[in-house]
Amino acid sequence: MSPGSPATTNAPDRTGGALVLDDVSVRYGEIIAVDGASATARPGEVTAVTGHSGAGKTSLLWAVGGLLAPGQASGSITLGDTEIGEEATSRAAGAVLIPQGSALAEALTARDNVAVPLVAAGVPGGDALAQADHALASVGLDEHGDHLAEELSGGQRQRVAVARGLALASLRLGAGAAVLLADEPTSELDHDTRERVVVLLEDLARRGATVLLATHDPEVAEIAPARWHLDDGRLTPTP
Ligand SMILES: Nc1ncnc2c1ncn2[C@@H]1O[C@H](COP(=O)(O)OP(=O)(O)O)[C@@H](O)[C@H]1O
Ligand SMILES: [Mg+2]
Repeated sequence: MSPGSPATTNAPDRTGGALVLDDVSVRYGEIIAVDGASATARPGEVTAVTGHSGAGKTSLLWAVGGLLAPGQASGSITLGDTEIGEEATSRAAGAVLIPQGSALAEALTARDNVAVPLVAAGVPGGDALAQADHALASVGLDEHGDHLAEELSGGQRQRVAVARGLALASLRLGAGAAVLLADEPTSELDHDTRERVVVLLEDLARRGATVLLATHDPEVAEIAPARWHLDDGRLTPTP
């Protein structure tokens, strides 16, 4: 892969169209985590995915990201004209996950936690470090790039995960389209930092990304112009 090129060759034509779920279910053996969800999310705005703990928010995001084991998800997920929902197709369509619980590499610095996935996506090392520093500064961690992940507080770790997701999503957007799957990205943040992260997600959406923001915080959900509410796996879109 040449530097700066999209992460995949043979990428499908991406029109930047809507993310459409049609009768999507997620099952773990006998457990039905998502039950026939049908809904549409538009690029350019944040869609909040709400619901109590265990309602199926993470399962739904993972289905869109193509991150579930084979056979766990069924139904159709499309982005524009492209069928996604398998790991390769979702990644090619620009899906990026900010995982619940941050999932940082403990032995790496904050900067490298952001830069390494950028390098893996084809960004040259020096550019990746610069983009990582920019993303860390955007979440208020400009002083913490050299800290090991294991030295950071829960809230700081969460901000590193947000920075990593935003940097990757910006890269995907530059290559055509991005779907940011933000899974409770503000759960450990104080009020001001939470607002800052929400603004960053809105900015990314305004630049053309489709943003799904899973949250059980009503104040965070409030900012989203569109909402999908999950109740025991059943999805109701709120206009
Ligand atoms: N890997 C798994 N194996 C079995 N059950 C799971 C797994 N992941 C989630 N679940 C179950 O699926 C349901 C939905 O979980 P989840 O998608 O994590 O909801 P939320 O993110 O809204 O808390 C819950 O009943 C949960 O216990
Ligand atoms: Mg969850």
